[in-house]
Amino acid sequence: MADRLVRTLAAAQAAGREPQIALTGGSIAERILRQVADAHESASAPEVDWARIVFWWGDERFVPRADAERNEGQARAALLDRVPVDPSRVHPVPSSDDVPDAEAAAAAYAETMRTHGAGEFDLVLLGVGPDGHVASLFPGHPQVHVDDAIAVAVHDSPKPPPDRVSLTRPALNRAREVWFLVSGAEKADAVGRALSGAPVEEIPATGVRGREATRWLLDREAAAHLD
Ligand code: 6PG
Repeated sequence: MADRLVRTLAAAQAAGREPQIALTGGSIAERILRQVADAHESASAPEVDWARIVFWWGDERFVPRADAERNEGQARAALLDRVPVDPSRVHPVPSSDDVPDAEAAAAAYAETMRTHGAGEFDLVLLGVGPDGHVASLFPGHPQVHVDDAIAVAVHDSPKPPPDRVSLTRPALNRAREVWFLVSGAEKADAVGRALSGAPVEEIPATGVRGREATRWLLDREAAAHLD
């Protein structure tokens, strides 16, 4: 996956684009980002011009900036602090140090995206929870159906911490490619249901698709319920 990620970004740059990527939290994404950084450090010539990639997050936990729970901190430690990114092209969701509540964070993040976004991501990376959640869109929660905003606040996340900000499905779907990064037997049921078209209120992952490609990058255990 790390190799595919680098090749995809390099191909977008070779085609003359300045790729926009949405990162995700989760343990699998972290391992992939770390591997991308390892490959960068051991390569003789970098395949990707990291300074010309625009970074976003599909969701974020609404906690202080330095909190270990931040998806931003995880991605910075795994990749962004280890490759020569342009800080003005890295757009984290505002933290609780920056704004008073998750609503204000969602509004500010949406405004940043209107200003610095390209109207479309080249690539959206998404982990998938055992319950089928993606970003911070959880089954049965109203945010799954929001279609008139770029980003929304979430206050009662079933997975801690409770306060979060998430891109909406319409925002995540403005993507050339969406990649679901899924590993482990505990995800097999959600993967099987997503790929058999379960309703989006039950399995939010069902409702996120790339314009050109939607890739499910699975290990054997996560794929166990596919025919
Ligand atoms: C969060 C996590 C979460 C994660 C999935 C997949 O905000 O609580 O980021 O959404 O992406 O649960 O996690 P794993 O990759 O660890 O399986």
